[in-house]
Amino acid sequence: MPLNAATEAARLSTAPMMDWTDRHCRYLHRQLSRHALLYTEMVTAPALVRGGALHLLDHGQDEHPVALQLGGSDPRELAQAACFGAEAGYDEINLNVGCPSDRVQSGTFGAVLMKQPDLVAECCAAMIAAQPVEVTVKCRIGVDEQSPETVLPEFLSRVSAAGVRRFSIHARKAWLKGLSPKENRDIPPLDYDLVRRVRGMFPELHLSVNGGVDSLDAACAFLDEGFDGVMLGRAAYHRPADILCAADRRIFGASGPDTTAEQAVLNMLPYIETHLSEGGRLIQVTRHMLGLFAGRPGARAWRRMLSEGAARPGAGPELVREALTEVAPGVAA
Ligand SMILES: Cc1cc2nc3c(=O)[nH]c(=O)nc-3n(C[C@H](O)[C@H](O)[C@H](O)COP(=O)(O)O)c2cc1C
Repeated sequence: MPLNAATEAARLSTAPMMDWTDRHCRYLHRQLSRHALLYTEMVTAPALVRGGALHLLDHGQDEHPVALQLGGSDPRELAQAACFGAEAGYDEINLNVGCPSDRVQSGTFGAVLMKQPDLVAECCAAMIAAQPVEVTVKCRIGVDEQSPETVLPEFLSRVSAAGVRRFSIHARKAWLKGLSPKENRDIPPLDYDLVRRVRGMFPELHLSVNGGVDSLDAACAFLDEGFDGVMLGRAAYHRPADILCAADRRIFGASGPDTTAEQAVLNMLPYIETHLSEGGRLIQVTRHMLGLFAGRPGARAWRRMLSEGAARPGAGPELVREALTEVAPGVAA
């Protein structure tokens, strides 16, 4: 069976990250890689279905392949939200079973659902039945006192029985009491070995590993050892060019020269013009661009000029051009 576009793209994906992977961020990442799969921030099903906040689904045609991440735990509501996502044109609908924040726990969704695999299965079955776009799940290896060794395989069995074929696994537990969401991304230890064992137990499933992968080399190593995909969050956000510029060639076998951070900046200029002409602010776009030249001479000046200047009233693309001359003399002239 031919793979759908999102499944192919899932060999390398950028993780869903609230407040970070908004449409401006995704547009930037798309300038760096044509093929990687880009996830939205989590959008909650209640916001869409009860709140009517369909603007949260806005995205650009240039972002594809792009996956919508939903949060929720009510099968009917999630089914309706998935329909909205499909109508909006997303290439994949993903359910969040990994996010530990308080707000999310109170609505009974996110990582706490690791304790209710039957409910997750029911939600996924409803989402699958309601619309044609592939439904996937992003999960943890367990929460709190659960034993991941038993919980993760059981979770995958039950949820895959509902028809889900593709999972991203953040290879650490979430501790729902006592740790902040940020601490929950660092303190519970990573257990890649468990995810490897689970990989062997479910050869029919498409499994992406997530958590602590901080270079393209590390991503390639996971693919070489048999994972179907690798999902990168913070590294892709903070050092997008390092992670994404060579991805099309190294991960997707594309020919031709790698993209460059400089070219991505030039590609962003018309996008920024349009955004400003629609009443947007420069900083809404440039805040995602600060790490583009990380590790290169001039990176600090680039970051400083953008962080200090982009919030000023009237700031526009000329600031970006000027900052670019700090890192890449001649390119923006
Ligand atoms: C700022 C921020 C926001 C996040 N928001 C979400 C989210 O909305 N949904 C989700 O499933 N995970 C969210 N995560 C977790 C990431 O998707 C990812 O699982 C985690 O950062 C581990 O991957 P990494 O080590 O490559 O960053 C967030 C992470 C960060 C840093």
